[in-house]
Amino acid sequence: MVISLMGFMGCGKSSVGRELARLLCCPFMDLDEVIEGAEGRSIPEIFASDGEAAFRRMEAEHLQILLDSHNISAVVALGGGTVMRKECAEMVREKTMCIYLRATAETLVRNLDGESENRPMLSNEEPLNVRVAHLLALRSGTYEQTAHMVIDTDGKSVEEIALEIHRNLDKIS
Ligand code: S3P
Repeated sequence: MVISLMGFMGCGKSSVGRELARLLCCPFMDLDEVIEGAEGRSIPEIFASDGEAAFRRMEAEHLQILLDSHNISAVVALGGGTVMRKECAEMVREKTMCIYLRATAETLVRNLDGESENRPMLSNEEPLNVRVAHLLALRSGTYEQTAHMVIDTDGKSVEEIALEIHRNLDKIS
């Protein structure tokens, strides 16, 4: 089974994913890192030279390759925008156990402070809190609909969140 971690930028997908993979003794993969490795460029470089639409196509392509080649157990951290593309949301829903790490806009803004350079979707004219609230409002419905499990993460440590997922996996698998 592939477990996918989904949620807004700054919700802790990668750190929780690494900890969960450690608990499950299985490999961890980060979709952004897979894309960067395959392209030989960072995500900000891809956005700057090719634009968002090209990045989204790469994201869908690499997600498909990754899910088609992993019938084994693995934990995969998705990008914050991955499931906004319908075909990606369908793949994630059908081929993974998808967990939404839900956080409030306040927590996300706190975690993302100073991160705009690494995250092209945040390098916008708007102040960070306005941008996060705007994007979160656009995305949260899709996150809720795509997830098989929702974990509220505010005020919890990476270890606590990973343990909570681990405990709950028994109930839904
Ligand atoms: C994006 C989130 C990023 C990365 C890209 C676009 C988004 O991943 O895929 O910058 O649209 O929310 P993280 O959520 O891991 O930061």
